Amino acid sequence: MKAILFSRTGLPEEVLSLGTALEPTPAPDQVLIRVTTRSIQPADLLFIEGRYRYTPSFPQIAGFDAVGTVIDTGPGVTDLAQGTRVAFRGVGAWAEMAVASRSRVYPVPEALSDDVASQFALNPLTAWGLIDECRLAPGARLLITAGRSIVASLLTLLARRQGLNPVLLIRNEDGYVTVDGNDGSVIAHAASVAQVLQGTLKGEGFNAVLDAVGGVDSLALIDALLPGGRLVTYGLLSDTDITLKGSTLLRKNLIWQGFGIEKWVSEKTPEDMHEATRELWAVLAEHPHVMPVIGRFPLERFQEALQAVRNATRPGKVLLTN
Ligand SMILES: NC(=O)c1ccc[n+]([C@@H]2O[C@H](COP(=O)([O-])OP(=O)(O)OC[C@H]3O[C@@H](n4cnc5c(N)ncnc54)[C@H](OP(=O)(O)O)[C@@H]3O)[C@@H](O)[C@H]2O)c1
Repeated sequence: MKAILFSRTGLPEEVLSLGTALEPTPAPDQVLIRVTTRSIQPADLLFIEGRYRYTPSFPQIAGFDAVGTVIDTGPGVTDLAQGTRVAFRGVGAWAEMAVASRSRVYPVPEALSDDVASQFALNPLTAWGLIDECRLAPGARLLITAGRSIVASLLTLLARRQGLNPVLLIRNEDGYVTVDGNDGSVIAHAASVAQVLQGTLKGEGFNAVLDAVGGVDSLALIDALLPGGRLVTYGLLSDTDITLKGSTLLRKNLIWQGFGIEKWVSEKTPEDMHEATRELWAVLAEHPHVMPVIGRFPLERFQEALQAVRNATRPGKVLLTN
């Protein structure tokens, strides 16, 4: 079968090539899927660069998140018929066929497009998991960084459904703005994260912060938390070293935790996942525009697809089709 492979880690543009690979066979508890559409995600690039939580095994097929149809199942999988359209997350999705664990395979409602379904197993589930981890009561104030990202848009939708008050922190040409996630109004505008948060807080802190950026501005995010508040770090967009005193966390009984989707999913019961997927498919059917697509390229034109990712000037994903 056709596949996009790499035999060493490095810049995707330099190490990826189109080649052939053996068709995979589903092991126990796995599903074999004929892939129709794959979404290119930041995690895909980190994996190829050797900076992701999975270590590649060469020659490695790239990609994780996609949609396709079930063509076979391994021993122990009894609830997925051949031909079922499924979203999935599995290593090696940038190929004509891929395998994924049954627990990472999600049947797609008919009304949802492949554009949306190809992104489902990563960002929507991450957004749901992040809100779940915060355990916030209605009315709680939630700060969301990298506010123009797809995850931030999903978080805003989910937070509103739970009666939370989301605030988006967005970078722009001359600094940062904060935006009220309920009505879209600009709250404050300043040159640095610390300053924009000062202008946003007006004496009130946040119950939780969901941060995809990391680095030195984490200190300003921690400062913006109310006593007992929680900072969840889930992205590495600017993962530089910082210095933090234990007393900063101790004095306000703060929690600082990391979040990775794989571990979160692995700890959820099938009932939890059923609730998450049911709500998410309903939200996405109503708001498919939160998962915009900004380019489509067949597997063979993966280099052009990578260029489209690098040159993107608006939020959205580039897809690899057949
Ligand atoms: N932990 C997990 O399991 C998990 C799961 C899914 C996603 N993620 C992470 O979540 C983040 C968002 O994913 P996505 O797919 O929603 O991303 P996306 O739509 O590609 O958007 C990325 C956003 O990050 C902003 N950004 C990039 N570098 C930045 C920096 N140095 N400082 C501040 N903002 C910066 C960009 O801002 P501009 O618009 O200003 O360019 C852009 O809006 C990524 O870091 C991804 O790796 C983590």
